[in-house]
Amino acid sequence: MSSKRDGEVIVPGATIGILGGGQLGRMMALAGRPMGYRFVCLDPTPDSSCAQVCDEQIVAPFDDVDAARELVNLASVVTYEFENISPAVAAVLQDESYLPQGTQLLRTTRHRAREKRAIIAAGAQVASFAEISDQALFEKALEKLGVPSVLKTATGGYDGKGQRVIKDIGAGAQAYTTLADQGDLVLERFIDFQCELSVVVARGTTGERMTFPVAENIHVDNRLHLSIAPARVGDDIKEEVSEIALAIADSLDMVGLLGIEFFLGRDGEIYVNEMAPRPHNSGHYTMDGCLTSQFEQHLRAICGLPLGNPHQHTPVVMANLLGQHVEPWLEQLVKPRPSNLELKTHLYGKSPAREGRKMGHVNILADDVEEALQWVESCSVWSDLQS
Ligand SMILES: Nc1ncnc2c1ncn2[C@@H]1O[C@H](COP(=O)(O)OP(=O)(O)OP(=O)(O)O)[C@@H](O)[C@H]1O
Ligand SMILES: [Mg+2]
Repeated sequence: MSSKRDGEVIVPGATIGILGGGQLGRMMALAGRPMGYRFVCLDPTPDSSCAQVCDEQIVAPFDDVDAARELVNLASVVTYEFENISPAVAAVLQDESYLPQGTQLLRTTRHRAREKRAIIAAGAQVASFAEISDQALFEKALEKLGVPSVLKTATGGYDGKGQRVIKDIGAGAQAYTTLADQGDLVLERFIDFQCELSVVVARGTTGERMTFPVAENIHVDNRLHLSIAPARVGDDIKEEVSEIALAIADSLDMVGLLGIEFFLGRDGEIYVNEMAPRPHNSGHYTMDGCLTSQFEQHLRAICGLPLGNPHQHTPVVMANLLGQHVEPWLEQLVKPRPSNLELKTHLYGKSPAREGRKMGHVNILADDVEEALQWVESCSVWSDLQS
């Protein structure tokens, strides 16, 4: 049993334990320290991104149950910054600490088919899909769904890893063979989309909930490149997407943050793509664009504080800095800034700067998002991602 009552208020001065030491944990700690919270994280890499701004780090593998107990003993409340938590560690967090988010949301979102069933149960729509556990089922599903479609591993995928787009039926067998040894699969219809959208929804231990403004996302090679906020879609779409997000949050009876990704189809339909039970890369724009950032909101939600005002006070384009962008960005940083823009640099303290690795992001503030987008396009830092 949890030693704390559900919904208990965790006041500043208390220590928050974070499972994981990456950039999401780091930005949680950076948001919470001015409020007066203390932080301890657990991560196998010494001097992790998060540890650099925490009071303490426990250096241990993520599946080390004794280390998880150590984390729990040091913290008044525990959260996580990644979702692939081993069942044994999840049990320690659930049973021996105060984990307001619980483990049910992790269970739902870590498996694509389970996640899709939960989205449908909340009354939202997903791309037509089939659950695949053997080759016969795959062949039948491909015949039914047709092409183009996407075959995805049910668990463990990120940044487009563990998925294959099938453009013609003849290429299906090969896609299946490359992923078949990675457990359950999901085949889904490829959505011809106008754009990709996302929303971060927060729900507190009190049931209070809110959404941040809708972002529009540009992926290159399946990896997030830009988030544009406000999204360049009509208010009706933004309202519908936000309503869907609130309905999902309520239906899951969740606490904390949930990042929800959507496709706006050319048919005008809104499809939920996937969800992450934590701060989301597409919500980093809130750090400089909103009165309350997604990271502060997460802490407010789990600590039982009233949620902050998510009002967006300036248009923002967020551009990720991948390994290959760091050096060019450091050169850019010392140049005079463009007079119509404000550039806010966020580097995560990670090394080495491997190609494709998320090392930081820049929030580009402007009077309107088109100005910021034009500048990104003209800037040589991201020239490798531009067509
Ligand atoms: N059914 C689909 N129709 C159209 N495009 C898709 C579909 N599934 C995935 N994609 C494209 O691939 C990208 C990555 O897919 P998805 O979000 O499922 O992957 P992921 O590996 O879990 O990524 P991450 O967790 O980093 O967001 C999507 O943002 C979208 O651009
Ligand atoms: Mg995704």
